[in-house]
Amino acid sequence: MDGNGRWAQKRWLPRVAGHKQGVDALRGIVQASVERGIRVLTVFAFSSENWNRPVEEVSGLMDLLALALSREVPRLSENGVRLHFPGDRSRLSEKLVRSLSAAEQATAGHDRLVLNVCFNYGGRWDIAEAARRLAERGEAITEESLTGAMALAHVPDPDLLIRTGGELRISNFLLWQAAYTELVFTDCLWPDFDAAELDRALAEFARRERRFGQTSEQRAQAPAPDADTQHA
Ligand code: IPE
Ligand code: MG
Repeated sequence: MDGNGRWAQKRWLPRVAGHKQGVDALRGIVQASVERGIRVLTVFAFSSENWNRPVEEVSGLMDLLALALSREVPRLSENGVRLHFPGDRSRLSEKLVRSLSAAEQATAGHDRLVLNVCFNYGGRWDIAEAARRLAERGEAITEESLTGAMALAHVPDPDLLIRTGGELRISNFLLWQAAYTELVFTDCLWPDFDAAELDRALAEFARRERRFGQTSEQRAQAPAPDADTQHA
């Protein structure tokens, strides 16, 4: 969800105001995803590298997550949204960790949309952590066992990855899971990303031919694969 800082700076507002607006944008996209039948939505809220930002921005982001949790969880729950917070919790405050777990537990019974809010997450952290856990248990390291030990083991690999804010890179997001994900890049800053922008990205996704290493001819014979975006 990139571009919050620039959105704020363009308006002579503090960066944190952009992050606040970003929460509003996320609320709209969650609703739009539910309406479009998307089953899994995974967002990158705070990366392992974001600790390097100025302390007041880092604490602003922590406070914003806590505030968003206290305000949004009841409505998300009513809408059938199940929350997960993939990421390393060891550096988060005890209070925040408690509210993350409480939100996960409160929404555990829902299945309309799985909303993964990656917080203090990094793709490399995820892979290394999964390998460490398997090694600790003395289990063989295979593609399947690693996939099953990762922070997103509860959802299928993403079909579509949208990066807002104009940068053309992955920035340590779902490195393992995005092996065959369709990538869509947009200059739109995250606070401006609305249902119409989502529809543009979905239309772009629908135009792509997903071959998964096969030829076009082989895919044409396969029985209607991957017609819908299930995981964005
Ligand atoms: C949000 O956008 C990403 C977060 C870490 C929350 P940015 O804060 O990176 O916005 P820009 O790139 O400075 O515009
Ligand atoms: Mg940025």
